[in-house]
Amino acid sequence: MPSFFYEKTENKMKKDYTGTIKSIKNIALNTFEMKIESKLKNAHSGQFISILCPNKTLRRPFSISDFDEETKILTILFKLKGEGTQYLKNLNTGDKIKFLGPNGNRFSLENKNCLLVGAGIGIAPMLFLKKELNKEGINNYLISGFKENNEVIQGSDENIIGGSVLDNLEKLIKEKNIDLIYSCGPTIVLKKIAQLAKDLKIKSYVAMEKTMACSIGVCRGCVIRLHKDNGIVYGSVCQDGPVFKGSEVVWD
Ligand SMILES: Cc1cc2nc3c(=O)[nH]c(=O)nc-3n(C[C@H](O)[C@H](O)[C@H](O)COP(=O)(O)OP(=O)(O)OC[C@H]3O[C@@H](n4cnc5c(N)ncnc54)[C@H](O)[C@@H]3O)c2cc1C
Ligand code: FES
Repeated sequence: MPSFFYEKTENKMKKDYTGTIKSIKNIALNTFEMKIESKLKNAHSGQFISILCPNKTLRRPFSISDFDEETKILTILFKLKGEGTQYLKNLNTGDKIKFLGPNGNRFSLENKNCLLVGAGIGIAPMLFLKKELNKEGINNYLISGFKENNEVIQGSDENIIGGSVLDNLEKLIKEKNIDLIYSCGPTIVLKKIAQLAKDLKIKSYVAMEKTMACSIGVCRGCVIRLHKDNGIVYGSVCQDGPVFKGSEVVWD
């Protein structure tokens, strides 16, 4: 009988860490970079941590934007949204922070001509992915999009300001002979990139965002529908994702 849920789902116990903030910097309008030192031994691009914010039952998920293998310091970039991110912004160097992680799957590194697309704060996991691809000597080009000049987060090969990362994407794909696209950003952008990749018959991976409660695959609050050989199944963004093939997501 076909499985109702994505076959990769398994409830792994995640490590609960107390980290120390090594630095917190305002890097763009309402955007902060936080470096955290903890006993976390390893992390990869695509994975995220879920931070406990006082008086909030639900942990807040943030993509890992860098992990230094030597110092074991991890970096997140966050944009102010509500009370959780406001709390994070007011923390100082030396303050303690509790988090679960690393959560979720990782981007698969493939030896192709890779285009990385980060829309807004979606650049966070792309910077880490770029570092990993560079380490493997894999050809890549990172393009990011921001609404305003003062929102730009540094680190991309090209920034689109004011327009959309989708503008001229097809031209860029052809010019650079791209055969794999990785992307992170609002669902509508990911949907369009997955569609473009399908039209051009190239592979795509998308890092999905979904409001999360447990972050560890238990509550099923973050499920999305996926195309599988046996029909449509449900997968959780926090455990089976957040990285999925663009072609397997059922885009509503
Ligand atoms: C896998 C993943 C990775 C993410 N990575 C980043 C990142 O690198 N940088 C960054 O700035 N933001 C990231 N987000 C979004 C971030 O989690 C929310 O902006 C944050 O939780 C808002 O918390 P808040 O208390 O300030 O806002 P509130 O609006 O008060 O949050 C209320 C609730 O909604 C949830 N929530 C709100 N917005 C989102 C959202 N966009 N996605 C998921 N849950 C949301 C919160 O977790 C919380 O449970 C990520 C989300 C996911 C799912
Ligand atoms: S947030 Fe609970 S299963 Fe994903």
